[in-house]
Amino acid sequence: MQNQKLVIEGGHKLSGEVRVQGAKNSSLPIIAASLMCQGETVLKNCPALSDTYASCRILTHLGCECRFSGNTLTVKPDGLNSYEIPDDLMHEMRSSIIYMGALLGACGKCCLSFPGGCELGPRPIDMHLSAMKKMGASVKDEFGIIECMADKGLHGTKITLRYPSVGTTENIILAAVKAKGETIIVNAAREPEIVDLALFLNKCGGKIKGAGNSTVVIEGVEKLHGCMHYIMPDRIAAATYISAAASTNGEINIIGIDSNLCDSFISVFEQMGCNVYIYDGCIYVNAKKTLKSVNKIITMPHPGFPTDAQAIVMAVLCKAEGNSIFEENIFENRYRHVDALVKMGADIKVIGKVAVINGVKKLYGAKVSATDLRGGAAMAVAGLGAEGTTEISDISHIDRGYENFESVIASMGGKIKRI
Ligand code: UD1
Repeated sequence: MQNQKLVIEGGHKLSGEVRVQGAKNSSLPIIAASLMCQGETVLKNCPALSDTYASCRILTHLGCECRFSGNTLTVKPDGLNSYEIPDDLMHEMRSSIIYMGALLGACGKCCLSFPGGCELGPRPIDMHLSAMKKMGASVKDEFGIIECMADKGLHGTKITLRYPSVGTTENIILAAVKAKGETIIVNAAREPEIVDLALFLNKCGGKIKGAGNSTVVIEGVEKLHGCMHYIMPDRIAAATYISAAASTNGEINIIGIDSNLCDSFISVFEQMGCNVYIYDGCIYVNAKKTLKSVNKIITMPHPGFPTDAQAIVMAVLCKAEGNSIFEENIFENRYRHVDALVKMGADIKVIGKVAVINGVKKLYGAKVSATDLRGGAAMAVAGLGAEGTTEISDISHIDRGYENFESVIASMGGKIKRI
């Protein structure tokens, strides 16, 4: 697996229809939440990704039973017999920190290793830890091991976040759903994946109000029970396939998507000159014209332009007429894909958190290495629209977030293979 590469022969217009996969960022916290329920949970539309498999390994290690078949994940958490996640499992997936809230909620304690930094730069967890403390957990953080204990159980409280962090909001919801009393999160993240988590927990018997707004109120309940839940569609996968089509001046019909999830980036493709039609759970994008540069794109918490779409949209704008500017406000180190795009002929200057793209007529295939999940996808998007062959190594990053990436692209006429 480690040495696999994607080889892309650029210059073939993509055309076709794609049913978008279930959302990675929704499935991971929901899988963690399933360990807090009594009885079986069935998750439909669960994306088959390396991060999903890593989640299953964590649950299995904790004593739960997991069965993944097709896109249905069945979790039976009744055998839960541990509150410790070893180092190797914690490091398999960045979002493993979500098990802090889930385990505290399920058994009043957890012992995890510090997730550390990652390819996007330092990933502090100070907000997660201070929220758990405020809810009554004692937190010991020694030699990279975090031990949280709440012998008397967690209690509700008001928590004001200094920044609307997605993971912190999810961790608080998980910790609060079975805590004593009411928890109020002020300045909560408003990402749609948080709404999906709350929807799931409410089906399980939780009492969560306001998810998707900046104030979320959670009234603790005694018990949660398993349920059947359909994971929401992945808006970033949708943005990626639209970008892939646009990069080749092709056309695409995305099906099984709620277009409201995509408002923040659909307008960018419209500015590029793409024709976008929205109808009955579908987004049709026709990019058969020369693309134009766009107004400054500023990554922001939802409902702003998502940081996860920054690299892939940048890959399209490399060939748009004129100058485009990005301002990356969420992560310190999220321009690592730029070197690869420049190697492919792009004209991009990065100054701090700003990237200026001067559109060029052509990109050229090159040997590049995926720097992170979305950066790797951006290289594929650029490679599809480039002249010649692009070879992307380190594609385990891409496999963390895209289900059958090369088959989806090939189904639209892209010349791509995994070697
Ligand atoms: C989630 C998404 C990720 C997306 C990101 C921002 C999942 C699995 N991942 O990541 O794809 O790019 O939201 O939309 O859903 N921060 C702190 N202290 C903390 C927590 C966060 O300073 O305790 C900072 C981070 O360093 C970062 C910013 O807050 O600069 C946003 O992070 P956050 O919203 O927490 O992102 P994640 O939940 O890690």
